[in-house]
Amino acid sequence: MKTNEIRIFVDEYEGLDELSEMDQQLILEARKIARTAYAPYSHFRVGASVLLTNGQVISGNNQENSAYPSGLCAERVAMFYANANYPNEKIAAIAISALKNGDMVDDPVRPCGSCRQALLEAEVRFKQPIRIILDGKNKIQVLQGIESLLPLSFSRSFL
Ligand code: THU
Repeated sequence: MKTNEIRIFVDEYEGLDELSEMDQQLILEARKIARTAYAPYSHFRVGASVLLTNGQVISGNNQENSAYPSGLCAERVAMFYANANYPNEKIAAIAISALKNGDMVDDPVRPCGSCRQALLEAEVRFKQPIRIILDGKNKIQVLQGIESLLPLSFSRSFL
């Protein structure tokens, strides 16, 4: 038996002004769209903004449902809209922001497992890593690809 170590790399920024102009813009879009999420059950409003390689930004937010599993997370709303309308545009980055009872979350928001899997699918589909920007009041974390959020993943190569 041997134990392997899997390392991930997370860049941390103390505030918006430490990031590039483009990343700042993407985060601001995610913060803005989080406010109009439909989250009457959890009161946890999430915004996700996707940057396509043509420079276009597509944003989405979580859409809840009284039958809970019928709702969808912000990340997938944004990504699926982008993929549906711009099927040939690669996704370069995604910024995710969240409000808990109206206040921005202290620690960077964490995408759920299903959204991580959907991000992986987009990376595999477009053969390009997606920069993932996780917004929070205390710090902003940036990952250079889904590998850092979903190690030991399942993808089409296993089929
Ligand atoms: N949610 C997202 O939209 N994205 C995340 O990254 C975490 C969770 C939503 C799903 C649900 O509407 C609410 O937040 C509480 O789980």
